Amino acid sequence: MKKTLMTLAVLAAGVVATPAMAADCALTIEGNDQMQFNIKNVEVPKACTKYTVTLKHTGKMPKSSMGHNIVLTSTADANAAAADGMKAGAAAEYVKPGDARVIAFSKVIGGGETTTFDIDVTKLKAGTEYTYFCSFPGHSFIMRGVLKLGS
Ligand code: CU
Repeated sequence: MKKTLMTLAVLAAGVVATPAMAADCALTIEGNDQMQFNIKNVEVPKACTKYTVTLKHTGKMPKSSMGHNIVLTSTADANAAAADGMKAGAAAEYVKPGDARVIAFSKVIGGGETTTFDIDVTKLKAGTEYTYFCSFPGHSFIMRGVLKLGS
């Protein structure tokens, strides 16, 4: 019984520790050869002015056939921005040049590669839902997650 209580205390401490860790203004998201991001929900702490996202491609396939990036827009803009990004092509990192809907984006990487980009947190509004997606052709509907400004 005592051991159970201790286990619960440890678990409770773990839960309490989570918000403190989330105050970290950086995050690593992994993408793989199965076209999946390992994180589907992101809450950006309001205290951050800059949020640094590292995209790590844990697969082995090349950028030409299984490239991944991360593009951030409002959820309302995501599908249209993804469609325009696909048309923009590889040379433009599959992001329409100068697209005002795009809040931040990374370059496209292949298996084994890593890239980092920053989100300007001052551009995020409380109560607005944002979506991050991979704009590589055919990936945006599967590789996506929701991002919100936290408290
Ligand atoms: Cu992708």
